[in-house]
Amino acid sequence: MVMRVIEDMKTELLLTVTERRDVADGIVELALRAPTGGRLPSWTPGAHIDLVLGDQLTRQYSLCGDPSDEWTWRIAVLREAEGRGGSKYVHEHLTVGSTVASLGPRNHFELRSGSDFIFIAGGIGITPILPMIAATEKSGHTWELHYGGRCSESMAFVDRVQQLGSGNVTVYTESENGRIDLDSALGTVRPGTQIYCCGPSPLLDAVQQRAVEWPAGSLVVERFAADPSNAAGADGPGFEVVFEQSGTTAVVPPGRSIVEVAEEHGISVITSCEEGVCGTCETTVLEGEVDHRDSVLSAEERGSGSSMLICVSRCNSGRLVLDL
Ligand code: FES
Repeated sequence: MVMRVIEDMKTELLLTVTERRDVADGIVELALRAPTGGRLPSWTPGAHIDLVLGDQLTRQYSLCGDPSDEWTWRIAVLREAEGRGGSKYVHEHLTVGSTVASLGPRNHFELRSGSDFIFIAGGIGITPILPMIAATEKSGHTWELHYGGRCSESMAFVDRVQQLGSGNVTVYTESENGRIDLDSALGTVRPGTQIYCCGPSPLLDAVQQRAVEWPAGSLVVERFAADPSNAAGADGPGFEVVFEQSGTTAVVPPGRSIVEVAEEHGISVITSCEEGVCGTCETTVLEGEVDHRDSVLSAEERGSGSSMLICVSRCNSGRLVLDL
């Protein structure tokens, strides 16, 4: 399964922008279709795609439309003044009729079975949550959404989530009723309930702290930036890596990443964040014990040992064999 998903990520697909509309201050929603009008790869709620935005710029955007629409993908992009250029590119260059290459979809934020769901979204973090709520509503499970933002004008899709169940939605705006009340959302432990949270790091950190008393595995988060509790980075002892497909063996010294060493040996790796957040560099592990340092793989995925994020993760066994 992991192998199939990783292979899918290596296939670029050209998309055309067929609709563009402003959905909140600084947030634009795009509809993307195959230029030929054909069916697009299927996806599940929580999935994202990578868009290749000019040279050296690959960025991830959650799919926020309807998975049963096999012809259209929808994303919503917040223009980030302090960002690294991806959102600026989308806002300035992607208009109706533009084409853009994509990779994916990939899903590390998959909806698991549960009797009850609590969704917590901060700002643009609402995008993966939208199809999750729609799927939960369709399946008949109960759900509630706690959605926070700076002010109502900056919050996308409030109407859309309220249409799915207005009684289940609590909206918090910092300018009116403050930040999301995590005591009320998570104060009572409810075994069997799954918590899904997406948004800026301070919100995710606060939710993780507030949920410590909940049963293990109750909370699933999707991050835009590296989790500070992970030792992401190139620190750690050196090790040997075998790039099986290319027949190359190399040493990854302390202070260097597997990606850097692969590129030095002429082995091309698709990367984006290079800090263990996006999942783009996920690679199949054939042998060896991984020292996982990313913010993407779940405990279950780490436990299987079948893949790793080679921009940050390292090795605990002195030698890794990778399907590269
Ligand atoms: S490039 Fe983003 S996780 Fe490695």
